[in-house]
This record gives sequence, structure tokens and C-alpha cells, in this order.
Amino acid sequence: MKLYVILLLVCITYAQAWGRGDLEKYGPFQLALQSNLIKCNHDKTLDLDVSGINVYFYDFTKNEVKTFLINDAADGILAIPDLNILRRFIIFVPGYRSNINKSTEQRVRDTFRDFPNSYLIILDHSPYTNDKPSNIKGYERSVQYVYYIGKALADMLTGLKKGGITPKNMHCVGHSLGGQMLGYTGQIFFENTRDKLWRVTALDPAGPCFSKSLIEDQVRAGVAEYVEVYHCNAGGLGTTSVLADIDFFLNKKGQSQPNCGTPLIPGIFDSSKAAKCSHKTCVQVWTATVKHPDWFLAWRCDSYKMFKDGQCSGNEVTLAGFWNPGNATGVYYFSTEGYDLDLDE
Ligand SMILES: *[C@@H]1O[C@H](CO)[C@@H](O)[C@H](O)[C@H]1NC(C)=O
Ligand SMILES: *[C@@H]1O[C@H](CO)[C@@H](O)[C@H](O)[C@H]1NC(C)=O
Repeated sequence: MKLYVILLLVCITYAQAWGRGDLEKYGPFQLALQSNLIKCNHDKTLDLDVSGINVYFYDFTKNEVKTFLINDAADGILAIPDLNILRRFIIFVPGYRSNINKSTEQRVRDTFRDFPNSYLIILDHSPYTNDKPSNIKGYERSVQYVYYIGKALADMLTGLKKGGITPKNMHCVGHSLGGQMLGYTGQIFFENTRDKLWRVTALDPAGPCFSKSLIEDQVRAGVAEYVEVYHCNAGGLGTTSVLADIDFFLNKKGQSQPNCGTPLIPGIFDSSKAAKCSHKTCVQVWTATVKHPDWFLAWRCDSYKMFKDGQCSGNEVTLAGFWNPGNATGVYYFSTEGYDLDLDE
């Protein structure tokens, strides 16, 4: 009993020393990933087979979904009768431990269901990124596949370009590991075609194994005409790197998000839950902007403290999210407090 009281006191003391947001970074999984326990392999000579990636192609105006294996997807899509190559192609690449039936994918489908003049494509790369049980080995294996999945998508988009679809209509959006995959996708697409994708949007691109890696192994400015990164759990599951044309930091330092709670007593389970919640908020915020173009003005600012203290309110402003006009660069901050993000999932 006495021991428990002491432990409790130690925990509370730590909680105060670290501050609320900081605790969220120290779940068991995150802790392991940030230590030297994890082996990060970005080897590009392994020639790993990713032909089992499924590509879901949604034409909501016809209420149609078609599924292809990735190596057949470009030809399959181009063979669709009445395909309107002038529409926008929105390509979503999910993160670690996802698949086509998860709530993130459902949210993305719901978001673009009524969006005019567009097709939605979602990749399901779960054969390579969804090991059960989920542990460090599973994450290491997924990281090893990031380059190969990114390349497979680049080759698919290259095929679409050859079929007459302009890269000016290609918008790639990735969450977490998917965000990092798009660094390779944009780079390889450029090497293949000498042309750039219109836009890459990386939603809290994965931190572990990437924050400290070589710049060419990270999503970054230059891999598309315009590259935007949204930070929601920086230093936890998301990257701390500032590398894009524009980097948005959401709410508290782009680290911890409102409604993701910090447990009063830092339970191991709860802190990793809080990190996952913050990590996912980037998807929720970005998808919410599709139907709410006027939400989320962001201010150029050098630090969260200055932003919070109102010292940046006279700086350049831009619209964050789907309607970002794409002419602002640098580090921007915004708050989502007071907006109804429809978080019921
Ligand atoms: C998704 O759900 C469908 C229908 O229940 C199922 O057939 C399919 O295998 C699931 N896919 C994955 C990747 O879990
Ligand atoms: C960026 O583009 C928007 C929309 O076209 C425009 O209103 C805004 O003035 C532009 N901002 C800058 C800094 O050029």
C-alpha cells in the first residue's frame, strides 16, 4: 500500500515536471520508438515486392468503386468507360496499421462523396504495414516497405500520366507513414516524367525512423509543385522535421490536441491513446476543411509561445486545409478550439 502511494506521488511529481502535453509522448510504444531499440531500415536495394497493394477507385457520381492490384491500376483506371481525365484525382495513402475498412478511410470517403469534379483513390497497403500483433518488429517491417510502396504509387501515377491525365490534377494526401511514402512518390514521379505532382499533403507524417533520417528519406519541399505538412503529434508519432513549403502546427506546438486528454495519472495505456488521438486529429481537421472552406486561418509565426501571446497576429495569414491556395511558405500556427470537428468515431 505504502509503495503505491509513493509511486503515485512520483507519478504526479513527474506529471508536473513534464507538463501536460509532454506526457503524451511517453507511451510504451512511442518510448521504444524514440530510443535506440528500433532498427530503421531505408535500404532501397532490397527490391521488395509490393504487388499486393490494393487500389480502390471511387466514382461517387456513378456510385461506383473499382478495385485493382497496384501494378494493374493505371491501365484499369484508364480503361474505365467515360473516364473524365479532366477531373481532379485525389489519392489518399493511409498510415501504419490501417486498411480500407478503418474509420480514417471511411472519413476520407465521406469527405469526398459529394465533392464535384473529382475521383477518389485510396491505397490499401496493409499486407505490408499491418502486422499482428502490433509491436516494434511490425513497425520496423513497415518502415522497410515505405520506399517500395511510395515507388509503386509513383509508377502507377506515371502510367496515368502516360494515359493523358495531367499531374496538375493529381493531389496526393498521406497520413503518418503514408505521408512519408509521398516523399518517395513525388521524387520518383519527377524522375520518371520530369513533371511534378500538383500537390502533396502530409498529415502528421510519421516521426519514428524519419525525424532523424536523411532528408531524401522524408517528405519535403520539392517533391511536388507545393508540399504542405500538418503537425499534430510532433515528437510522438509525428515528425518534428520542418521541411515542406509550408508547415502547419496545430494547437499546442503541433504536439498535443484538444480533446485528446492527458490522463491525470500517467497510465501507460492512456498516454499512448492520447498520442494516437492527437496523431489522428490532423486527418479530422484537414478533412473537415473540405466542406468548411473558411475554417482555420493560420498565422506565420516563429514559435508557439509567440502565437499564443498574440505576437503574430499582424503576420502573414493563409487558409489552412484543403483550400490552402498554396502561395504561402514557412511555419504557420493555428488553433482549432471552438470548432465542431465531428469526432464521433
Ligand atoms: C474489408 O471488409 C470487407 C467486407 O466486410 C472484407 O471482405 C475485406 O476483406 C475487408 N478488407 C480488409 C483489408 O480488411
Ligand atoms: C494567395 O492566393 C490567394 C487566393 O488566390 C490570394 O487571395 C492571396 O492574396 C495570395 N497571397 C499571397 C501572399 O500572394
